[in-house]
Amino acid sequence: MKFFIDSADLKAIQDVKAMGMCDGVTTNPSLMAKAGRTDTDALLKEICRLVQGPVSGEVTALDADGMVAEGRRLAKLDDHLVVKVPTTLAGLKAIAALAGDGIAVNATLVFSVNQALLVAKAGAAYVSPFVGRLDDVGEDGMQLVSDVLEVYDNYDLETEVIVASVRHPMHVVDAALLGAHIATIPPEVIPKLVAHPLTDKGLAGFMADWAKLQGRGA
Ligand code: G3P
Repeated sequence: MKFFIDSADLKAIQDVKAMGMCDGVTTNPSLMAKAGRTDTDALLKEICRLVQGPVSGEVTALDADGMVAEGRRLAKLDDHLVVKVPTTLAGLKAIAALAGDGIAVNATLVFSVNQALLVAKAGAAYVSPFVGRLDDVGEDGMQLVSDVLEVYDNYDLETEVIVASVRHPMHVVDAALLGAHIATIPPEVIPKLVAHPLTDKGLAGFMADWAKLQGRGA
């Protein structure tokens, strides 16, 4: 499973990349606002240069023509730029037009199987079901991922599934067990994936025994 980092924080992305865990990046207007840089095009270019993999930058227009114009402009920033488009009626038109231009599109804010089916038919390269936000309202986010993977498999649809709105380690485990192509993970979740109390306890034991051995030699 590919790991994308769900962040526009260059330093955080750099840290995760240094661990070999950054195959790509996803951003959205909220993450851009959190990063606090108003030169958003320059920031996206810097992220692309650093990551050398797919980097999603989201359109902010709400009408199809506006999304297409913005998407075409964003796509010119870097070869790695993936245009993120919301899954609305206007979004479907924009996805079809941008995909027709050969531009990779990530269809975002996906909460149903039908939305995922439509964006794949429109030509999106990626689909982003938001598992955490579904869990938040009492639905089962991972069930949606499972259903989308099954439907795509039924029709050999090549759109890659990005498990998005990841909140905790079990989302990553479940995404991998289901065979999702990608999980986009907030940087703060990465340390939780590696942490285990038995690793810490085991290491403390090894270090204590090693110190005893050194004491014997002295
Ligand atoms: O990429 C967008 C998505 O992952 C948002 O996550 O935590 O704001 O629901 P969240």
